[in-house]
Amino acid sequence: MAKLTIDGKEIEVPDGTSLFDACRDARGGEALPHFCYHPDLSVAGVCRLCQVEVEGMPKLTIACNTTVREGMVVHTRSEKVTRASTQILEMHLINHPVDCPICDQAGECGLQDQYMKYGLYDAEVEMDDKVNKGKAEVIGPYVILDQERCVLCSRCVRFCNEITGTGELGIFNRGDRAEIGTAPGTELDNNYSMNTVDICPVGALTSRDFRFQKRVWMLKAASSVCPGCATGCNVRIDHEAGKIYRLKPRYNPEVNGRWMCDKGRMTYKTVHADNRLGDPVAGGQPGTWAAVPGAVADLGAREGFALVVASPQQSLEEMYLLKALAAGSPVSGGLSDADRGEKDALLLDGDRTPNRRGLALLDIAQGDGTALAALINRATGTILIHGGDPAADPEVAAALDGKALVYIGTFDNATAALARVVLPGAMWAEKAGIFVNRDGRLQEFKQSVARHGNAREDWRILAELMAVCGREDAPGTLKAVRSELAVALGLETDLNRMPERGFVPGGDVR
Ligand code: SF4
Ligand code: SF4
Ligand code: FES
Repeated sequence: MAKLTIDGKEIEVPDGTSLFDACRDARGGEALPHFCYHPDLSVAGVCRLCQVEVEGMPKLTIACNTTVREGMVVHTRSEKVTRASTQILEMHLINHPVDCPICDQAGECGLQDQYMKYGLYDAEVEMDDKVNKGKAEVIGPYVILDQERCVLCSRCVRFCNEITGTGELGIFNRGDRAEIGTAPGTELDNNYSMNTVDICPVGALTSRDFRFQKRVWMLKAASSVCPGCATGCNVRIDHEAGKIYRLKPRYNPEVNGRWMCDKGRMTYKTVHADNRLGDPVAGGQPGTWAAVPGAVADLGAREGFALVVASPQQSLEEMYLLKALAAGSPVSGGLSDADRGEKDALLLDGDRTPNRRGLALLDIAQGDGTALAALINRATGTILIHGGDPAADPEVAAALDGKALVYIGTFDNATAALARVVLPGAMWAEKAGIFVNRDGRLQEFKQSVARHGNAREDWRILAELMAVCGREDAPGTLKAVRSELAVALGLETDLNRMPERGFVPGGDVR
């Protein structure tokens, strides 16, 4: 451990700690001004913004590239430091276009923030004297580059070199002509390209998807989990007035660190897809929820369901209720071979469903199309399918043809077309629930937007179906479902107070 004094405050940090991190601790969590420093990337030391005064050293030094030493006395707010920060900021802004009113980064821009904190000088360079560079250059499927806004911090270059190992970006030319770019004939096209938008401290790299959609200060945020694959990256849903505008990674060192993949970022689009189911349908006619119990009972469900089929897309609470609803009838986890894709070395899993481990946790087995078709053929009463689209498999579709089928789903798909009663459920962003990721970590997602049309939370639909089947133990709240579930799984952790980063039963809880 090393003891040092920063701004008059004595602190003790482990040997080898960077002075940048030690300063943040001493300043109550407030980081030094910076562009190039990033906790997950190598030190570049190029922006020169994080300068501090160390007693005994003749010049100011950059904190990000300095390691703490025993007895160091450091000043981060002295007149000398403040003057240097202002001058460096002015240098960064010499050729900056200051086009904040039309920049997507406005409101979450490092340059704006640092200027308001440390800059506040009158610009001495006229707009006409600034060096002009490329504007709105499309450099990949998801990313667009504004060269004039770039402060050459090299974060994006280091990300592509050190995190994805794809190395698409580089800094070309020298002096005030230096600029970020891709090598001729290449694109910024890897599974994680939009993370460069997140780490770009200014509006040089912006998202083509989010571009000009919404001013960021109008967005509200909800904590969630990406439904795109079994990794379960922690995300933030940015939304406003019932519409989701983007997903951003939420820091969880146990799962995704600070990153997420581009495919996952686009999963929000399905919430607003044109083929969402918005109203219950019985006998091919749109109906009301009030008519649902009668319609389901008329199909023969009063005696219970002969077969229930779950989906790895649904929450753990819903799987639990579905299993309870089966009451001894066969329960299938749907199709084991559906929703598979290519796995990569960073985060993206080959299993493109968020909760297959949930099925395993509840001992719900999955099979292939042939196995599911056999179960359907053996069923002599009403069948309930919850989520997914098993009828996309021709063998399953043939078996379902003519059966008394109730389907709870979110899209108008092959299974909905075969069902006598279709009940519109909610998508993950429209409800709360728990997914179990590939490592067995239980993680909570919260509702961010209102449900589409007259769709209902799935746990509520399942509870209503329990009542149709004459069951008196149907839970009245999601809280009650979670309490029952915790007991059924023998968990000590209260599922109604889920830890921020999730937990692995019998493992870490934080
Ligand atoms: S584009 Fe952004 S992240 Fe890349 S060097 Fe420029 S300012 Fe830094
Ligand atoms: S790796 Fe999987 S969970 Fe993570 S963002 Fe991508 S699709 Fe979503
Ligand atoms: S943050 Fe230290 S030089 Fe850029």
